[in-house]
Amino acid sequence: MASTTESVQAVDAHGFRRAMASFATGVNVITVYDEAGQPHGMTATAFCSVSVDPPLLLVCVSRDTRTHDRIVSTDRFGVGMLSGGSTKISDHCARPGADKRLPAAWLAEGSGARMPVLASALAHADCSVHEHQDVGTHTVFIGRVEHLYFGSETEPLLFFQGSYHRLQRDMADH
Ligand SMILES: Cc1cc2nc3c(=O)[nH]c(=O)nc-3n(C[C@H](O)[C@H](O)[C@H](O)COP(=O)(O)O)c2cc1C
Repeated sequence: MASTTESVQAVDAHGFRRAMASFATGVNVITVYDEAGQPHGMTATAFCSVSVDPPLLLVCVSRDTRTHDRIVSTDRFGVGMLSGGSTKISDHCARPGADKRLPAAWLAEGSGARMPVLASALAHADCSVHEHQDVGTHTVFIGRVEHLYFGSETEPLLFFQGSYHRLQRDMADH
């Protein structure tokens, strides 16, 4: 039983972020190609499945990011769902303002996808933009999934209260 409770009436940015951090998520990398054809990735947890038929998913991307502009200019993006050992990839793709080119060693060859595919991802969904909507500081992109890739890893990378976590198998079995 929880020993203390706290009710916060004013919803400021700190409180909002703190509450949202209580939602445990997987970690994804949105992949795009830049103007020079180089593969780039951006770490994103704001992702969910929307519809099976047609196959739709959504990502929420800040309009301050370069990835946002690349999605808008190409009308395409990929989403790689990261495996447990991928904290280095996640950190690489989350550094604001840094070069987030994806090294060739991280990429799957011959995946058949149109967007860059991380070889170590659990799965990758290749999408065309089905529709998009500006909401607050972000754009919600609904992607129509046109191609799927499945990697050989089996454990997800999780994010909760500002840190990476791994799935605890004994809990997952209940
Ligand atoms: C764990 C984690 C999750 C993130 N999720 C998102 C997200 O869902 N949407 C978003 O716009 N930014 C998210 N970010 C921030 C972007 O990864 C970050 O702003 C990135 O530097 C933008 O890259 P770009 O400007 O090169 O596109 C997240 C960062 C971290 C560390």
